[in-house]
Amino acid sequence: MRKNYAVIAAGGLGTRLKDYKDNEFTKVLIELNGLSMISTQIKQLQSWGLENFIIITNPEFHDLIVEDVSKNYKDLNIQYSVQKSPNGIADALSYAEDKVEDSSLVTFVLGDNFFGANPFLGIDFNSFKGAQIFVIDVENPQEFGVMETDSKDNIINLHEKPKDYISSLAVVGLYIYEKTCFEYIKELIPSARGELEITDLNKIYMKKKLLNYKLINSWWIDAGTEDRISELKGLI
Ligand code: DAU
Repeated sequence: MRKNYAVIAAGGLGTRLKDYKDNEFTKVLIELNGLSMISTQIKQLQSWGLENFIIITNPEFHDLIVEDVSKNYKDLNIQYSVQKSPNGIADALSYAEDKVEDSSLVTFVLGDNFFGANPFLGIDFNSFKGAQIFVIDVENPQEFGVMETDSKDNIINLHEKPKDYISSLAVVGLYIYEKTCFEYIKELIPSARGELEITDLNKIYMKKKLLNYKLINSWWIDAGTEDRISELKGLI
């Protein structure tokens, strides 16, 4: 069985939620029904069968995150890496490179993304090649990365938060990569907002015809706003 590491991006500052009532620290430490968001994320990934965890934190909240996770998961195989500054989601992933064994896979999840059902069903990890994204039909695609397809449902492009309507298929914050992702991240250049974008990493795989997608057919929540956190609390 090919080793599959779960890398969790918990390195952003969560500034949009700084004033949220339960948020004294950082977004991933917000409590959801008695368990922090980061510990709830680990629970979700465990339920999908993942056993090896790498958590990307930020310098300010690293110790608090380690304290919370260690308290809830005493016997899990968890490694940590501190992202020096919030230079983007692909930059956060790069901090896992030296912890991932050769020929393993990387399941990369944004700490605030939650799913109603296991999205891995039907994916053959042993023959896995390239990269996998997951998409879902949404009413507010301008808030996400989106996938553009042709009339035969082939991927023709990816766009990060397009202002004008292109597609209603949002690319959710869950990605599977071969270890090649770490080499490709080194080719990325910062976007207009100064970040290494995960969408640009996925476009490298798309151009090499090594990007696959799967439709999510359960609920999905990017718990990045107060409303979505309340909704999530009612679902988990
Ligand atoms: O939720 C899905 C969306 O997530 C995708 O559709 C977009 O393509 C993708 O760019 C991302 O957009 P967001 O605007 O939601 O990303 P955000 O900046 O909120 O970061 C998501 C998580 O990643 C957040 O919980 C913290 C972590 N993060 C973020 C940055 C910028 C890091 O660990 N390091 C970082 O440098």
